[in-house]
Amino acid sequence: MARRAKLTGTGMCVPHRVVTNHDLAKLMDTSDEWIRQRSGIVERHYIEEGQTPVDLAEPAARQALAAARLEPGELDCVVLATLSPQADFPGTSFFLQDRLGLGEIPAFDLRAQCSGFVYSLAVAKGFIESGQFRRVLVVGCEVHSTGIDLSDEGRDVAVLFGDGAGAVVLEANEDEADPAGLLEVRLHAEGRHAEKLWIEAPGSGFTPVRITHELIDQRRHFPRMEGRFVFKHAVTRMPEVLMETLNAASLKLADVDLFLFHQANLRINEYVAQQLEIPADKWLNNIDRYGNCSAASIPILLDEAVRGGSLRKGQIVAMTTFGSGFSWSCALARW
Ligand SMILES: CC(C)(COP(=O)(O)OP(=O)(O)OC[C@H]1O[C@@H](n2cnc3c(N)ncnc32)[C@H](O)[C@@H]1OP(=O)(O)O)[C@@H](O)C(=O)NCCC(=O)NCCS
Repeated sequence: MARRAKLTGTGMCVPHRVVTNHDLAKLMDTSDEWIRQRSGIVERHYIEEGQTPVDLAEPAARQALAAARLEPGELDCVVLATLSPQADFPGTSFFLQDRLGLGEIPAFDLRAQCSGFVYSLAVAKGFIESGQFRRVLVVGCEVHSTGIDLSDEGRDVAVLFGDGAGAVVLEANEDEADPAGLLEVRLHAEGRHAEKLWIEAPGSGFTPVRITHELIDQRRHFPRMEGRFVFKHAVTRMPEVLMETLNAASLKLADVDLFLFHQANLRINEYVAQQLEIPADKWLNNIDRYGNCSAASIPILLDEAVRGGSLRKGQIVAMTTFGSGFSWSCALARW
């Protein structure tokens, strides 16, 4: 009997503190008009002093568990996608595993930047379909606000990012009468562009130590990006992987009820939707409210889609990403 990985619960959490474009314009040479026009972002959320990534991951995970009608103790594994871990090691997933009181089940972080959540879905799908685990918690969690350069020099990157977490529970579905589950997941990477969007320090690529005052003075501990280069690749790779995944599932664009694209820039998504002639009522965005939350963007958007009634039982959702690495991916699920 075929065993499918069914998404049975979603959740999300963003910190209370809202930072508008006008707030950022007080810190650096930027404007609400520039940010809105180039990215579609109006505001984003930042953690308060003393908050940590797990403070976002925990409520998102508990919401997803409640939606799946599961107790934390019923989980078999935790996979957490992040590019902004709570500590250098161990991963944020370990702090979450402790917070949720999950005993000794395995937990690990997955690093594929803005594609991390969909990469994690692929891992969970493999675990469930192979029979190794029956219930897997997948979380995307980012705290960007403490790692961006909120000065004129860092303004091109800093205005784009926000903090947040999103979570899903996946469970083994062996019911022949219930077709819900992940249908196909396709993953890609192109490491030759690793330095087009990255934070290089602290890193074990530096000897004899990973971080120095000099590196900090050179601002190499902040993210750097070739924005236009990233933009061009995103608008090519996202349609490509979406079509590849649909083909693999023997589906057509018209079969998809809802398209969720990574929330990096509204202009990227408009471009992709236009190329593929996706009608406006079939794709959702929340970048205006949250900015780019990297690995957390897709699960936050998915949770809003489910709770807002945009994604209903039996419908097909396509989740497509592009990010640093470069990495890009697509997951198709029947709800
Ligand atoms: C970042 C991005 C919005 C910039 O838009 P752009 O049209 O490419 O803008 P440019 O980088 O060419 O910069 C245009 C001008 O605005 C300036 N600028 C950059 N950031 C600015 C900001 N926050 N506020 C005001 N001006 C800014 C630049 O200095 C430049 O000035 P100049 O013309 O005097 O040199 C766009 O390239 C983008 O979205 N790229 C993809 C980013 C992305 O998706 N990253 C995450 C992937 S997961």
